[in-house]
Amino acid sequence: MDSALLEMRNITKEFPGVKALNGVNLTVRRGTVHALMGENGAGKSTLMKCLFGIYHRDSGTVTLDGKQVEFKSAKEALENGVAMVHQELNQALTRSVQDNLWLGRYPKKFGVMVSESEMKKRTEEIFKTLNVTVNPKAIMSTLPVSQRQMVEIAKAVSYDSKIIVFDEPTSSLTETEVEHLFRIINMLRDKGCGIIYISHKMEEILRISDDVTIMRDGQWIATRPASELTMDEIIKLMVGRELTNRFPPKTNKPEDVILDVQHLKGKYTRLKDATFQLRKGEILGIAGLDGSGRTEVLENLFGVMTKESGTITLHGKQIKNRSPKESIKNGFALLTEERRATGIFGIRDIKDNTVISSLNDYLIGGICLSDKKMVEKTDWGIKAMHIKTPTQKTQIRSLSGGNQQKVIIARWLLTKPEVLLLDEPTRGIDVGAKYEIYQLIIDLANEGKGVIMVSSEMPELLGVCDRILVMSGGQVAGEVDAKNTSQEEILTLAAKYV
Ligand SMILES: Nc1ncnc2c1ncn2[C@@H]1O[C@H](COP(=O)(O)OP(=O)(O)OP(=O)(O)O)[C@@H](O)[C@H]1O
Ligand SMILES: [Mg+2]
Repeated sequence: MDSALLEMRNITKEFPGVKALNGVNLTVRRGTVHALMGENGAGKSTLMKCLFGIYHRDSGTVTLDGKQVEFKSAKEALENGVAMVHQELNQALTRSVQDNLWLGRYPKKFGVMVSESEMKKRTEEIFKTLNVTVNPKAIMSTLPVSQRQMVEIAKAVSYDSKIIVFDEPTSSLTETEVEHLFRIINMLRDKGCGIIYISHKMEEILRISDDVTIMRDGQWIATRPASELTMDEIIKLMVGRELTNRFPPKTNKPEDVILDVQHLKGKYTRLKDATFQLRKGEILGIAGLDGSGRTEVLENLFGVMTKESGTITLHGKQIKNRSPKESIKNGFALLTEERRATGIFGIRDIKDNTVISSLNDYLIGGICLSDKKMVEKTDWGIKAMHIKTPTQKTQIRSLSGGNQQKVIIARWLLTKPEVLLLDEPTRGIDVGAKYEIYQLIIDLANEGKGVIMVSSEMPELLGVCDRILVMSGGQVAGEVDAKNTSQEEILTLAAKYV
């Protein structure tokens, strides 16, 4: 099976001030996984939205199964065999899982809508074939983001489509769920579907895809068989230059202990016991498997979650951090893992989204805000994080997914925290911009801040941190020096209390 299932030719799309797509080509063969790669803002999601009828292309042709098509809406695309799992989840959170699955196409029998129980049965059938273990009656908002993502994936698959687009599907999935998704994708491939797969995770791409198309600045750069590409070649094609080092030189020097955490235990969470110290100018990594309590360490420390017991001492003085507000006052900042779901004010512009957490810094005489200062700080953020945007007045929701994240990172850096807590700081960020973020983290440590960083990417922990705390089963399994350890040592510790 080698014939083209989908052909997009010479696609062009312009937004005010941005040429998002400029003559892009994409050919997807039947029964293959086609990876679409490029830096943040390269145009990947826009190209897919043009296919899916969310955006209308300015020019170019789309041929599906030998027939020219132009879908006017997502509904029309779905009815014609094209489904898409979006980068931003857009679900009815107050409704049940099964409602979300069938919304807009409630199953009918003899011309009437089927009953709730029938709907539940059909949902269970779909979940069973896909091995998804989510309660169809559960209210969406009560599920963790990773399960909501699985529901979205099940929904796309349930349309029995010829083409399924996955736009960064794994950014919030756990490792087991990723494996699970890959099995689903392989099953779809064997059925003869064409899969379009967007991700910034290089290892994933090389593992799952047959063909790779690389885009840069809205242009088509190359399409090659995955087997002929190495990670370095992909990076080079994406950024347009050789990227010799993935990590900046480590120039920070840890000094005296500023933070001492003893036997931190969460009330309603998996966190059983975390004891550790953080030095001034130090970058402390937290490693561990999914569910080991990595994120919970940060959330308990920051007061997002209620602590059961334990003590936190900052500069020799005991503090409580009972709520995020209190923690911010104490000089802490937390960049959450789910920043896209929880941190973005979509219709506000980039400036508002940048300065929202540091408003006190722009007060003049305690009453009004200095616009000049806010504009300056936003400019700093745009430059430091290489945020791709026409102006700072642009609504944040019109930025690419990765660029939205960069705005949120800038927001927290502007609160000038003394202790900065980062949960998966480079998730969804392209390789080039990752380097910039690593550099910023090291710069902050150089300025004397203490940084604690949770990451599931081992090379990143080894490349950026000074020390790494390894969590296992809700407790600290060990502490290693980043310079003198290995992935194997960390993995062995991570499995200690599993
Ligand atoms: N609705 C819109 N209005 C204005 N500009 C837009 C809109 N949607 C996308 N853009 C712009 O088009 C360009 C391409 O964005 P796109 O979302 O396709 O990037 P991407 O390759 O998916 O990036 P990422 O990896 O960050 O998700 C960006 O410069 C973005 O700001
Ligand atoms: Mg995108």
